Amino acid sequence: MEFENVIVEKDDSIAVLTLNRPQQLNALSYDLVKDLSLAMQEFDHDDEVRVMIVTGGEKVFAAGADIKEMADRGPFDARIQERLAYRDRINRIAKPVIAAVSGFALGGGCELAMSCDIIIASETARFGQPEVNLGIIPGSGGTQRLTRTLGKYRAMEMVLAGETMSAGDAERFGLVNHVVPVELLLDEAKNIAKKIAAKPVLAVKAAKEAVLKSANTTLDEGLEFERKSFYLLFASEDRKEGMKAFLEKRKPEFKGR
Ligand code: CAA
Repeated sequence: MEFENVIVEKDDSIAVLTLNRPQQLNALSYDLVKDLSLAMQEFDHDDEVRVMIVTGGEKVFAAGADIKEMADRGPFDARIQERLAYRDRINRIAKPVIAAVSGFALGGGCELAMSCDIIIASETARFGQPEVNLGIIPGSGGTQRLTRTLGKYRAMEMVLAGETMSAGDAERFGLVNHVVPVELLLDEAKNIAKKIAAKPVLAVKAAKEAVLKSANTTLDEGLEFERKSFYLLFASEDRKEGMKAFLEKRKPEFKGR
């Protein structure tokens, strides 16, 4: 697998996808979003891969959608809609995705991080939704995901005033899981990825699905969905092995079935 705008590497069961348009601060052009989306879908279907890590450069994760590319577009431009369709596919990746963010994660860059399941930030990371400065608003979930994560008032300040948030504040307010020195960013993301990769794959998939479901359901609907997935996992070999191994006081050998 090779892509012009994304470097892809496989390290055992972990796939690392590095956004690679450094001259444009990893601005999320149509081609970059398409490459990222296709690469992630490919890994989603690759049985060797258990967890993906999406990262950028040290100074910038991604500076948002490509403004040069958008400048002359109209509201119903097919290319904008197609770009968003590729973008939406990233939200539907079934395997766990960790964002490793250093430097600016702005606009679509912040939204991309928020589409991931876990966010690890370097001390230099800065998150923001500055779209208002361009006469637009976030278009890939910024208003919704920030509000659900930070609450209305902090989200409003970021979206209305275009204020950015430091890594430390992002950690304090629950937007990122951990903040680490920049040189440890990828190691920290890989450590978490390895822990997840060692778990039974069907349970991990069901757990991610159930957590994401909570954003779109009432509590009762969510509980019902969770209960059904819980029952379903009783049909898996790994569930039998996990419980048997616990009772026999040994390490389980999961098979992904
Ligand atoms: N799109 C296209 N090009 C971009 C870009 C973007 N989002 N961000 C930076 N660049 C380009 C600059 O034009 C510049 O190119 P040239 O060298 O050819 O002039 C190069 O990257 C370096 O940028 P700067 O000189 O501005 O670098 P800086 O270090 O002074 O500032 C920055 C860094 C604060 C991130 C600044 O570049 C910036 O504010 N970028 C725009 C951020 C932004 O508004 N993002 C939101 C985009 S809209 C969006 O994302 C919508 C959506 O939700 C879908």
